[in-house]
Order: sequence, then structure tokens, then C-alpha cells
Amino acid sequence: MSELRHLINITDLSVDEIDHLISIADDIIDNPEAYQEICRHKKLATLFFEPSTRTRLSFTAAMMELGGNVLGFDQAASSSTAKGESVSDTIVMASCYADIIAMRHPKEGAPFVAARHAGVPVINAGDGGHFHPTQTLTDLMTIHRKKGDLGNLTIGLCGDLKFGRTVHSLIEAMIRYKGIRFVMISPVELDLPSYVQEKLNAEGVEWKVVRNLEEAIPELDVLYMTRVQKERFFNEEDYIRLKDSFILRRRMLDSAKDDMIVMHPLPRVNEISVDVDDDPRAAYFYQALMGKYIRMALILFLLGIR
Ligand code: NCD
Repeated sequence: MSELRHLINITDLSVDEIDHLISIADDIIDNPEAYQEICRHKKLATLFFEPSTRTRLSFTAAMMELGGNVLGFDQAASSSTAKGESVSDTIVMASCYADIIAMRHPKEGAPFVAARHAGVPVINAGDGGHFHPTQTLTDLMTIHRKKGDLGNLTIGLCGDLKFGRTVHSLIEAMIRYKGIRFVMISPVELDLPSYVQEKLNAEGVEWKVVRNLEEAIPELDVLYMTRVQKERFFNEEDYIRLKDSFILRRRMLDSAKDDMIVMHPLPRVNEISVDVDDDPRAAYFYQALMGKYIRMALILFLLGIR
């Protein structure tokens, strides 16, 4: 029997495996009919202890487009967690009902604990301010489709780099490719956590901090905007002071490269004004679509299908 695989951190997948997932997702886009029955009689459990729109819907749509079924809950209050059940008990129980589990939890490390107890593959769909590996797969798929290559890019990461788990996972993924440079654009209070900074330095990755978005834009190939993560703040005053630190407006794209892409994991609050949406460089809704295809590829991979 082959070993059970989970996806807790993006580095659980090798670069070759990520390439393989991207090529499956490309094939799904080209030949959707070939995949529409492939997960018949398989069940995905979506256990979301924290709110989500895109991640949960895209997992659900992904499993449906593979011909499988989906069960689960979308808030801790509607699960037995509200009665005091532990994460490990919930997971053991869910393993009895589903073939694969996607789990989001406010506590960092909860999906790792879950994977140790699960009898089926566990996918981390976001753990607190820590990691979000399937968003990263979505981001890599988007960059692959829009830019062709995952190397030789200058990537601007803007907004809440402290609590933004999508940023932490994206950095971990991108530092494995050649010629990647980062420009970090955040208020000082929302700088990258030191463990991520240390990783960048240990890997010898070129990165710098710029405090002004307009100043950073001209050199970027990818601008990755993020929401200030309200739910991770200890006090509302700090959130209100920092929430509108950086707002991307259409006129600011005048100085951007013609082929720069603007990404955002969504949901957006204020950080991208709606007048950017019509610009051909806006890639965030396309990114949401790519999330479905790459999750289809991931489900197939973890279930060992084909
Ligand atoms: C992100 C998340 O949940 O971390 N959203 C998502 O999964 N698409 C980003 C965010 O909530 O700001």
C-alpha cells in the first residue's frame, strides 16, 4: 500500500510534484470531459473551523467537477467543536466518512495535528496566520499561465506580511525557483515575521523593504496585494490605523510594466480600488478560477488517481 500523503506546508510537495500538478491542471482546462467522472463515489470532507468563501467553494466545485461528492461544515459553531470535541477526534471521525479532508482552522499547526490522526489525506486549507498551501498552488498556477515561467521574476508583496498566511506560503514556494527577487511593501508593524525573514536570508534570496507602493511598482513583474488580517489583531485601534496603509489605484499602474500582473488571494476590502478591475493586468479573479483547477489536480494526486 502506498504511503498516505498530506499537504500541510507547501514544502511537502517537491518542485517536480508542483510542476506535475500544474501540468494536470493545464490538461483539465484543455480536456474537462476526461475528468468529469474520475472521482465518482469519492467523498471530500470540507471541515472549516474558520470563515471562507473561495477556498471552500473552490474545493467543493473541484470535487464536483471530478464527479465526486462533498460533505462538511463551514463554521466551528455548527460542528461538535462547540460541544468541546478535540480536533483529533473530529478528524478520526471524518476519516470514517470521507476519502480526503480539506481543513481550515484558526490555530496554527492544527492541520498538522489532524494529519497525524487521520486515516485519509488531509489538506491544510489555512491555519491561523501560518500557512495556506493550496492558495500558493493557486498562485503558482496563475503565474505559470500568465507569465509562462516560475523563475526570473521580481515579486512585490504588499499589505499584511505579518499575519498574511498566503504570503508566507508563497515565499516558501518561490524561493525554490531561480532568479526570484522580492520587494516587501508593508507598514513597519506588519513586516514579515522573523522566521520568514530568516528563511529568506538563509537561502540567500534577494529581497528588500520599500515603504511606498508607487515607488516599488515600476520594477515589478508580479504585484501581490493582501488584505490587512483584521481577525488576527489584538486590538481594533491598531487595525483601524493600519487597514488602509496601501491602496492600489488605476493611475498607479501607469508606471507599471505592461505585462506586470496584479494578484490578490481575495477577499479584497479596500486594498485594490475597483477601477483596477478592468485593467488587463488585473489577474485576481482569474486567480480564483485557477484555484479550482489546481485543487482538482491536487485531489487526484493525493487520492493516487492516475
Ligand atoms: C486568504 C486566506 O484565507 O488566508 N483568502 C483565501 O483563502 N483566498 C486571504 C485572506 O483572507 O485575506
